[in-house]
Amino acid sequence: MRWTTFLASLLIIAGCWVPPAMAASSDGDIPTAAQSDRISQPDTWRAIRQGEGGFIAGQPAQRGVLIQSEGESWRAARNGKLAWYAGLALVGVSLAIGAFYLFRGKIMMEGGPSGKTILRFTRIERIGHWMTAGSFLVLGISGLNMLFGRWLLEPLIGKTLFSWLTWAGKWLHNLSGFVFIAGMVVIFVLWARDNLWDRYDAGWIAHGGGLLKKGDHPPAAKFNFGQKTQFWMVIVVGALVSSTGISLLFPFSFADLAGMQVMQLVHAALAVVMVLFILGHIYIGTVGMEGASTAVTTGYVDLEWARTHHAVWVAEEETKTAKPAE
Ligand code: HEM
Repeated sequence: MRWTTFLASLLIIAGCWVPPAMAASSDGDIPTAAQSDRISQPDTWRAIRQGEGGFIAGQPAQRGVLIQSEGESWRAARNGKLAWYAGLALVGVSLAIGAFYLFRGKIMMEGGPSGKTILRFTRIERIGHWMTAGSFLVLGISGLNMLFGRWLLEPLIGKTLFSWLTWAGKWLHNLSGFVFIAGMVVIFVLWARDNLWDRYDAGWIAHGGGLLKKGDHPPAAKFNFGQKTQFWMVIVVGALVSSTGISLLFPFSFADLAGMQVMQLVHAALAVVMVLFILGHIYIGTVGMEGASTAVTTGYVDLEWARTHHAVWVAEEETKTAKPAE
């Protein structure tokens, strides 16, 4: 062995030197001219784009795909049709709610507040409501920021603040998903029975829920048909949004790359559907109706409100609490 070969071997073993031939082939190094000629060949890249080879070293096959051409169609759908339709629907529903307020005004208690109250929701019912509602507000705001923030918020607050807010929002989004799922389980257990179809629902539908005419209050038990629709929407759509969300939170555990792209589109589209429903719900629970909001704050509502909107429920409650005649 010549002394130069011996020295080079020592340096290689010590990790201090990489011969030029090895350097060109190791990851991250600049390829030689001969190598870049080879990798820039169109046939090679075409094959990689068609999924025939081109994997990232050290990654399991499904994670290490170098180029996934379908990703381009997914990105176009997410930033194109999905964002546009979602944006139009959100603006449309907000305008419709505003128009409804101008046309119908606030829905009032018929004879004014009576001053007497009745327990509408127990503490555990209110906890269930606010677990679902509070987490959904965080999920909705951070999710809409992920979908629209780059176009609507970033130009107003700048890239640095926007990226911090979006990063924090993404963490909150990931964590509050679990609170939302737990909240859904609580309200499902407590309220599913009261949200089954009953004999008052057909009348409620026939009267358009009494929403169109002043003084029209079709009788209802604990929940009317409108509330039942909203409840099952939260449970069914909420379950779909949650399951697709979980599959995105644990990448490759439930779906491959193409599957996760479908999950993302389904997750975002259904989440927007939920936001549209919830906009109406928040409106009717606050500015749209006199006397409703205390049901989920103190738990009590005015007896007049309860008689106006849930006459059958009040009658049932009064029968339960009535003392038997002496
Ligand atoms: C600021 C936000 C919210 C307010 C002010 C609010 C208000 C209310 C009120 C007043 C009720 C009781 C209605 C009654 O006594 O008949 C209620 C019930 C309910 N809320 Fe909310 N809520 C909000 C957000 C949410 C969210 C985000 C969800 C779900 C994602 C939700 C799901 C429900 C469900 C399932 C019910 C029972 C059925 C119904 O009354 O529609 N709420 N809410």
